[in-house]
Amino acid sequence: MSDRLFIFDTTLRDGEQVPGCQLNTVEKIQVAKQLESLGVDVIEAGFPISSPGDFNSVIEISKAVTWPTICALTRAVQKDIDVAVDSLKYAKRKRIHTGIGTSDSHIKYKFNSNREEIIERAVAAVKYARNFVDDVEFYAEDAGRTDNEYLARVVEAVVKAGATVVNIPDTTGYCLPQEYYEKIKYLKEHVDGIDNAIISTHCHNDLGMATANTLSGVLGGARQVEVTVNGIGERAGNTSLEEIAMILKCHKHLNIETNINTTKIYPVSRMVSSLMNMPVQPNKAVVGRNAFAHSSGIHQDGVLKNVGTYEIMNPKDVGLDDNSIVLTARSGRAALKYRLKVLGVSVEDDKKVDNIYQAFLRLADKKKDVTDDDILVLAGADRTASHAVKLDYLQVTTGLGVRSVASIGLDISGQKFEAAASGNGPVDAAIKALKKIILKQMTLKEFTIQAISKGSDDVGKVHMQVEYDGSLYYGFGANTDIVTASVEAYIDCINKFRVK
Ligand code: KIV
Ligand code: ZN
Repeated sequence: MSDRLFIFDTTLRDGEQVPGCQLNTVEKIQVAKQLESLGVDVIEAGFPISSPGDFNSVIEISKAVTWPTICALTRAVQKDIDVAVDSLKYAKRKRIHTGIGTSDSHIKYKFNSNREEIIERAVAAVKYARNFVDDVEFYAEDAGRTDNEYLARVVEAVVKAGATVVNIPDTTGYCLPQEYYEKIKYLKEHVDGIDNAIISTHCHNDLGMATANTLSGVLGGARQVEVTVNGIGERAGNTSLEEIAMILKCHKHLNIETNINTTKIYPVSRMVSSLMNMPVQPNKAVVGRNAFAHSSGIHQDGVLKNVGTYEIMNPKDVGLDDNSIVLTARSGRAALKYRLKVLGVSVEDDKKVDNIYQAFLRLADKKKDVTDDDILVLAGADRTASHAVKLDYLQVTTGLGVRSVASIGLDISGQKFEAAASGNGPVDAAIKALKKIILKQMTLKEFTIQAISKGSDDVGKVHMQVEYDGSLYYGFGANTDIVTASVEAYIDCINKFRVK
């Protein structure tokens, strides 16, 4: 009989904390639904006290998904727990994830406290949360650098107080795999009542050891792993969901099973990368562009003779199809819809499909190969549908030895506005014109242009960071015309401005 390992996905909490990766509620629901169909057991949907946006996302995700447990993060603070309880009111299965730092450095510098007081606060938080929900997970922040003896005392106290899951985070990604294995094993062997709770891993990747440490934790006795799609997360990220799922699939002798439908891995990875504007490195294990590409002559020869010579997993097992349908200007709506589905975007509304299809045809006219990334960008373009400020038209005259001039038309909640301006380049002129309509004190802080693949006919992706009213906003635009993409990115930021 194999052992069941629970998959706790924190893409929408730890992953979403990363600057530039913020999603709106509609996008978070899209990701949550994909995580549900991937088969994750727990979705950490947010940190509700941190912002009204996070609170609302936990509410809406709770309504949108059916069987995974919805988890909300808190500090070991009653007010946090009250807000989390409120945010989970629509969840069919709910969990509160509360905790406190337990390493000496957290105790001294973060809390100006002592070990005994930290245990009291931990126990009080777990007991308080148990008044509202049956499923309470406790995290011992920086457990990776907490000495095992004290950690065991903390864990024993919180399990006694009613914690159903105990999370042992290697918050700073410091542990060595052997050390982390021993930590989990020590808890299994020294904590009275540990069998009443599940031990969870939560490993960060600062030294590139997140997956190795997570696996070591599982071998030491942990039966829940906290992971993110594509390994996104604070700093160097978290353990990647896809790596753990495929390690267990490839190493069946470990006798550990998850509920993950691995054939959904690739579409979910693409969708998260596209929505969060976070490219996946080409050589990333399992989901990188080159993960199944054999380029050297010797490898190609071996794979052609027998695929097992250089391939330890079947690309189909992670949802990579054979790309036999190539999209061109002659492709129909059905082919486009199929490709979108493979990429994890299910668009049921015919009008939406039609909008994406029209945009696809315009792009296919300009560009020979329409890639998966292009298609995701086109589908994502639809997210501007709910925006109050939209770009109506843009005309720019530019060249060598002349000052650039731009005229712009905006649609603001159905009303049309126009302006013109000159600048020292086409983007400068266009943004100056835009600022004549949007009379707000906003400053462009960061501006990057990136081609999606190669070729002068490529779609350019623009990421911008704009400061407004003391906060930073991240925006994204994509177009074959990079000046238009830049203005779209600026407008994307404007649509995110919050009223304080
Ligand atoms: O890395 C960490 O310690 C965390 C906790 C809040 C679980 O993310
Ligand atoms: Zn973390």
